[in-house]
Amino acid sequence: MRISLLLTASTFIVAAVFAHVSQLEARLLRADPNAIPMNPALMTFAHGRGEALYVSRCAACHGASGQGDPTRGIPALSDGDWLYGAGLVSDIERVIKYGIRSYQPKAWNLAIMPAYATAQPSARDHKIPSLSPANIRDLVEFLIHEQGHNADSAAVARGAELFSGVGGCYDCHAMDAKGDAAIGAPNLTDRITLYGGSRESLSMSISYGRAGVCPAWDTRISAAGIRELAVYVYQLSRPNASLGADSSPRTTTPAR
Ligand code: HEC
Ligand code: HEC
Repeated sequence: MRISLLLTASTFIVAAVFAHVSQLEARLLRADPNAIPMNPALMTFAHGRGEALYVSRCAACHGASGQGDPTRGIPALSDGDWLYGAGLVSDIERVIKYGIRSYQPKAWNLAIMPAYATAQPSARDHKIPSLSPANIRDLVEFLIHEQGHNADSAAVARGAELFSGVGGCYDCHAMDAKGDAAIGAPNLTDRITLYGGSRESLSMSISYGRAGVCPAWDTRISAAGIRELAVYVYQLSRPNASLGADSSPRTTTPAR
């Protein structure tokens, strides 16, 4: 008699918790994603559930605290510096849903960094020329200088000319080398890099090309789960956002 009463009571509690969770998930999905950071109740709910998903789906690549891994071209998610968009919940959600170079039809339609040390640097654009090892060394000196380090000034001048001339770098990275988020071409003038900022890694990027992939999750994680993850990642870059008040990112760098 007592046991059956206890069972009824616990079934009732479990059902109530489920109802509460699905009610909050429904509210989360109805909300304007960029208004969620102003709502402490939704923020706390989404953050906790997003964290569990992050650990199981994302941490292996992006790191336990979102620190990234330049040896694999994996960007930090905790530095407030975004290659795709401005770091709004909606921007992050879009990347998680459709990925980057993921072959998902709605993924960002992105450029591919050509492999300038090869005979055919780009499969898409046959006008992009091969460059000699000396050309590539000059370009590396130019970029080292752009990032504020000491560099060989004669080589910097030659590299600058290649950058805005025959090398065609300006076409994707812009004349001022600050990049173009719309096609995923990173800012080359700051010290935040995808693949590392040493002469060796810059030279590898220019010589052999790059095309980083973030998987698309839209078929593997529910819409609510993707939104919870977007909130969690948003908060990784803005540690004070949990209070429900929108806070500034850690850095003010606009885009990589
Ligand atoms: C067709 C467009 C395109 C052209 C032309 C191009 N790039 Fe890139 N570049 C990219 C893209 C896109 C990436 C990012 C690849 C990724 O996300 O994996 C990139 C990445 C890089 C990186 C790595 C940056 C980092 O953060 O680690 C360097 C260095 C670089 N490019 C230099 C150059 C130079 C120098 C030239 C000219 C010789 C050039 N690029 C021409 C599109 C281009
Ligand atoms: C297999 C490794 C891998 C996994 C797993 C992965 N990512 Fe990524 N992610 C990447 C790479 C590589 C890039 C950069 C792509 C490029 O070169 O532009 C990226 C880019 C991103 C960006 C864009 C960052 C910016 O600066 O704009 C976000 C946001 C992101 N990932 C979130 C996630 C989340 C959330 C998960 C888990 C659901 C996840 N990723 C799982 C490899 C991964």
